[in-house]
Amino acid sequence: MKKITLTLAVALLLPQLSQMTQANEQIARDNQCFKCHSIDVRKKAPSFQAIAREFGSDKNGIQEVSTVIRKGVRSLFGAEKMPANTRMSDAELQALATWILQQK
Ligand code: HEC
Repeated sequence: MKKITLTLAVALLLPQLSQMTQANEQIARDNQCFKCHSIDVRKKAPSFQAIAREFGSDKNGIQEVSTVIRKGVRSLFGAEKMPANTRMSDAELQALATWILQQK
């Protein structure tokens, strides 16, 4: 009985988990992040995987990444700068920052 319950729980949970990942990627899509970023290749901006490697082990990583996304950055040397994102809700921002740091 226990085993069946567990199998059932996993079966119910898995599609939800993958839906969550898609939802977070959708936030990035909706906010034009992929114009300059990609998950694994450097375009105009560092890949999300590179960002995850840089901030992923930092205990304030999610906070730092959220601040960058909200306020944008002006690169000192590069010509490209990243625009601020003021329309996203805090919940979306949090979900997006968490998702980025999971791209390893
Ligand atoms: C117009 C191009 C552009 C768009 C659109 C853009 N970015 Fe960026 N982003 C950049 C650039 C360029 C940098 C690197 C800035 C620098 O030199 O440190 C950057 C840096 C970052 C960083 C920090 C990396 C670091 O090492 O400091 C994060 C996190 C990030 N972007 C997330 C996002 C997210 C999420 C979105 C969508 C909401 C987004 N970006 C949209 C150009 C862009």
